[in-house]
Amino acid sequence: MITIKTEEEIALMRESCRKLAILHKELEEYLKPGLSTKDIDSYGEALIEKLGGVPNFKNYQGYPAAICVSVNDEVVHGIPRADRIINDGDIVSLDCGLIYKGFHSDAARTHAVGDVSPKVKALIEATKQSFFDGIKMAKAGNHLYDISNAIAGSLEAGNYGIVKELTGHGIGRNLHEDPSIPNFRMRRRGPKLKAGMTLAIEPMVTLGDGSVEWLSDDWTVVTADGTWAAHYENTVLITEGEPEILTI
Ligand code: MF3
Ligand code: CO
Repeated sequence: MITIKTEEEIALMRESCRKLAILHKELEEYLKPGLSTKDIDSYGEALIEKLGGVPNFKNYQGYPAAICVSVNDEVVHGIPRADRIINDGDIVSLDCGLIYKGFHSDAARTHAVGDVSPKVKALIEATKQSFFDGIKMAKAGNHLYDISNAIAGSLEAGNYGIVKELTGHGIGRNLHEDPSIPNFRMRRRGPKLKAGMTLAIEPMVTLGDGSVEWLSDDWTVVTADGTWAAHYENTVLITEGEPEILTI
């Protein structure tokens, strides 16, 4: 069931997401070569608490950290480690969320650290652009898979690989709610979008064919072909008009 949030609930979603937007800005400034992925997690977790939130990824289905840090060919859900050092030339996806007054927020950014090839920079940009192309369809009266098809169409133009095993999702009192939001082409248009739905839309894109594998830690998702991947996510409110991006 896709929940429709009341005005009061939407106000709390906005507050939760606003805090997450601040967290992402701070993390972007903090990120630099020489840090371990664990340093990023520790810094982020302390900041979430300072902002008055609670980390929502930590202990979610046993996930052991506050922030997912995924480097290069890691797509999502990388587990922070003290011995995983960020180097100049890496790309780092930071996926984080928090709970505030009972409401979840979720957003991801992929950052280039130092000198990164034009091809990889273009991947990061195309991933972000596919989110913005997707949400052009995100309004009441349209259908959910109009968003999916717009994201896929955006990426097909650049011949990128789309990850199909993982999707976006509804979000609210739970981190993951209905519906599942594919980033690939769908034949049907899916459920109708209604004002008050809050959705985490999150294209995951690779320089290869988009197929992925899980590492033996049972969390880290990597590309099967070793190509690099990018991830971009925001929590979005559906309205009768333009969508409201809550985590920017
Ligand atoms: N943004 C991630 C997702 O929607 C959150 C994962 S939380 C984790 O999949 F704890 F499972 F990593
Ligand atoms: Co998500």
